[in-house]
Amino acid sequence: MSYDGSTDGAGAQTVWEIAVSVGEDQLELTSDLLWSLGATALEERPASPGAALVVTMSDRAAAEHFLGSLLAPTTGVDPSTVNLERREFVASQSWRDHARWHRIAPDLLVGPSWLEAPVPGDAIAIEPAGSFGLGDHPTSGISLAETRALVRPGDRVIDLGAGSGVLSIAAVLRGAVEVCAIDISPEAVAAARLNIKMAGCADRVTTILDGTGAAAVAAFDGSADLLVANILAPELVALAGPIDAAVAPSGRLVLSGFPEARIPFVNAAFPDWVESRRRIRGNWCALVLRRR
Ligand SMILES: C[S@@+](CC[C@H](N)C(=O)[O-])C[C@H]1O[C@@H](n2cnc3c(N)ncnc32)[C@H](O)[C@@H]1O
Repeated sequence: MSYDGSTDGAGAQTVWEIAVSVGEDQLELTSDLLWSLGATALEERPASPGAALVVTMSDRAAAEHFLGSLLAPTTGVDPSTVNLERREFVASQSWRDHARWHRIAPDLLVGPSWLEAPVPGDAIAIEPAGSFGLGDHPTSGISLAETRALVRPGDRVIDLGAGSGVLSIAAVLRGAVEVCAIDISPEAVAAARLNIKMAGCADRVTTILDGTGAAAVAAFDGSADLLVANILAPELVALAGPIDAAVAPSGRLVLSGFPEARIPFVNAAFPDWVESRRRIRGNWCALVLRRR
């Protein structure tokens, strides 16, 4: 374990990076461990051999607490593979210079379209343009994990609040034949269209500008196999009627975009549905619902 404390720079933002060096064969296991210890984003940097998995925190005490948990004897992590480093981000530098690829599920990476993916495999390149981030937000990560778990080849999927289109692309990679990507924001629809095209999924995904939920109901005549919505809790509650009407009797919902404390508020808006699973990352959650 090594520690590098650098000096403050004027106008710079300080962050704390915990990096763990791992071989290819340990990537999934170590990612799982870092998630389970409370990482809310995980960056994977290429290294030779293997890679460095990096957790970034803006608070020193939180970083040291995380480090303590990581180096607890029960984890089996070799301290010589761990490095805590303080970094300064100069405000004038573009955020694009700091964008990195993130492992958001054991078998899936998302990252900026202007950098090459660090390892082969399922990797979704994102140009966020005017949409919601790079697909590396915890709610995107848990929505992606559920999308990948639930989509079956041949499914028809609605991505409500599509943002960058990352969930639509993930659905196609899992075999969805038709996806309807809907967003209230024209900038998000443009970004989704671009990313879906870059991913080679344009023949399976239709992008639609709508904020009322009407497009979701119209999408597959109310017979979607899955509807994924990573939106804020009040929006999910307001859209509960159309969401319900858009999905087949045997269909599933993945609802995310809200903190754990809001689960009862969201569930109460879906009385004909029952929660079959919940996934928590940090304080954020994703619910999987099926009809009663
Ligand atoms: C948190 S982002 C999620 C983006 C992407 N699905 C993801 O998981 O990374 C939420 C998106 O929902 C969109 N949105 C908010 N209210 C909406 C509504 N009523 N109908 C459709 N989209 C909406 C926003 O414009 C935004 O792009």
